[in-house]
Amino acid sequence: MATRNRLDPDKIRENLRTTRLGKKIVVYERTASTNDIAAEYACDSGSDGLVVFAEEQTAGRGRTGAKWYSNYGESILCSIVLTGNKLSGELISLTSAVATAETLGKIGRSVTKVKWPNDILINGKKIAGILVESKHCGPRNTFIVGIGINCHQQKDSFPAELQNTTTSVDIENRGFCDRVSLARRLLSSLDHWLEIAQTKPNEIINRWRELNMQIGHRVAVLYSGKRFVGNCIGVDPEKGLILQLDSGLAQMFPAAHTSMARLR
Ligand code: BTN
Repeated sequence: MATRNRLDPDKIRENLRTTRLGKKIVVYERTASTNDIAAEYACDSGSDGLVVFAEEQTAGRGRTGAKWYSNYGESILCSIVLTGNKLSGELISLTSAVATAETLGKIGRSVTKVKWPNDILINGKKIAGILVESKHCGPRNTFIVGIGINCHQQKDSFPAELQNTTTSVDIENRGFCDRVSLARRLLSSLDHWLEIAQTKPNEIINRWRELNMQIGHRVAVLYSGKRFVGNCIGVDPEKGLILQLDSGLAQMFPAAHTSMARLR
């Protein structure tokens, strides 16, 4: 097996073509959650674009209270601070999903898809997830975009209950994932799409729709303790997933309080 590289901030910064992200990059060997570290710095002046990576998280978290597992050195685990935002958390979440899906789509041969709100799938299996959290630091919201990408995992690296639904870059590409280059590509892609989000949010929605696997299909969601089933007809940048319910009514489901459910 080829030697695995470590996440070195200087190497990530080499040839990094970004305007906003990555002026400051820190790498932790081990921390509870990179989102917590980013949140500690989020209200400092000059924290916009700060990127926190970790080789290992002891309490990595996903959406809706789920745990995010990764052994030491196997993933990209990063959190990015975005301050002074005019954009909504929903739009930042869609933008991050587009940027991550595009990055992964360019390194492999398989098609990358987005499952609302921001799971990234290859060949129907989850390869990356995104957790956007907000922090109040003055008049405008500050967001922390946490991204986890599975890189070096093999099937048995995942907990048994996730082995059939989860994958990694090494599994999909049958080879060695260069995490430094992947981290750099991820930051440039996010930088690029965030710039577009500021001026042409519709481009984000259109690209997200192209990458999405649910639009036009019947889906089930859990919202406020209830199960809703309907045809997925779109996504609203502020209000979330739009379902045409069986009653004929169109209803929006905000990402922060909604999870996907199984169709029975
Ligand atoms: C999900 O799919 O539910 C979102 C997963 C997000 C995981 C990343 S890893 C880096 C950052 N730190 C965390 O604790 N979570 C996010």
